[in-house]
Amino acid sequence: MPVAKNALLPIVAASLMLDGETVIDNCPALSDVFASTEIINSIGSTAVLEDRKLSVFYSDSNCDEISEDICLKMRSAILYIAPLLYRKQKINMYMPGGCKIGSRPIDIHIDGLKKMGAKIEINENKISAELPNGFKGCRYKLRLPSVGATQTLIMAASIADGITVLQNCAREPEITDLARFLNSAGAKIIGAGKSEIIIQGVPTLKSVEYTPIPDRIFAATILSAVNACKGKVLIKNYPMEYMSLFENMLKNTGLKIFHFNNKAMVIKYHEKKADIQTHTGYYPCFSTDMGPLLSSAMVNNKGYLRLYESVFENRFSYFSQFQKMGLYCKVNNKEYFQVLQKSSHNEELYAEDLRAGAALVVAALAKKNRFIIHGVQYIDRGYENIEDVFTRLGADIRRISGEE
Ligand code: EPZ
Repeated sequence: MPVAKNALLPIVAASLMLDGETVIDNCPALSDVFASTEIINSIGSTAVLEDRKLSVFYSDSNCDEISEDICLKMRSAILYIAPLLYRKQKINMYMPGGCKIGSRPIDIHIDGLKKMGAKIEINENKISAELPNGFKGCRYKLRLPSVGATQTLIMAASIADGITVLQNCAREPEITDLARFLNSAGAKIIGAGKSEIIIQGVPTLKSVEYTPIPDRIFAATILSAVNACKGKVLIKNYPMEYMSLFENMLKNTGLKIFHFNNKAMVIKYHEKKADIQTHTGYYPCFSTDMGPLLSSAMVNNKGYLRLYESVFENRFSYFSQFQKMGLYCKVNNKEYFQVLQKSSHNEELYAEDLRAGAALVVAALAKKNRFIIHGVQYIDRGYENIEDVFTRLGADIRRISGEE
């Protein structure tokens, strides 16, 4: 199992706050990792990915702007605002891009940083930020438990003057991993993984070598594929502690999962008609990123799936593509309904975001007909050569061109 993209990206950004060279092990060659190295190199520091080790080294330079082109490449561009304010006291950047799964504002990042002493103005797409007197510890309650905003504020608080108490924080495992990384570098963060996080700021952080946690969304992708296509797969470095909700839903369809040490044996021979109803939400609720994968896991099931999305407004971009594959699906506001229909056709399918793209791959493999999937650049954000992963598992899947 590769390391979790959503743990890795904030850790790469936070590495800029550490003195000396930080090394991140087992780093996959994802397009979001390359967007991160581009940000770091563009501001005069160094990030190099070689032999699956990513080294990050902050150097002082006059450059205090991240270009709009780079910011538009990924949502995690916003995670550079706190480290660069700490390092440069001034940074100009642009509204981040990323998967278009909803409006994705950044107000909580900005509001929290202002409470900690930053002066920030946003004019149209441009963000101009200054930190005249360093970050100051404070008590701050997030309007909602945003993963990214919690990460931004943990970073700022780690090197702030005094104690910060953050309330209504996101509790995702990727938050806990960022805190573990920063604590290994000398930060004093208590409570990550809970709603309230208390951080005693320290003046400097030292460089470390670190391996982020395994990717629970990748694990969900493999479980979905086994569930939909049948067969048997052994998953090493399996993030068992984060998978129980997803596992339990798939067990209703006949999937068998055996855990031993940090491995899982996943077996599916018989389809069991299942009726699944679930809603996505903030951790520990069912993950919004796993929603599309659950849909793909169910493509050959004669029961129904009713999925309610409560985090992002536009998470069901795959539904029209599933319809093209012969599934009966309906989206009603935030609710998605899916049942099996017999016919399926050879079709060209279009991925519009990362997890929707992965769901189309799994669904196409399960349908066994030949499909062409466009929009592979979205999938490349979070899966390193997805075609190789599934080829190893017995699929006939090829990348047609670099673009697609
Ligand atoms: C992270 O995005 C993940 N990305 C997403 O994974 C994931 O879907 C999401 O968390 C929820 O789990 C990364 O970690 C890189 P949020 P993030 O801030 O941090 C609203 C994937 O496929 N909000 O927790 O951007 C926001 O609009 C990606 O790997 C504000 O209103 O998500 C959303 O409704 C897709 N103001 C909700 O909070 C803010 O300032 C949760 O967003 C920030 C967020």
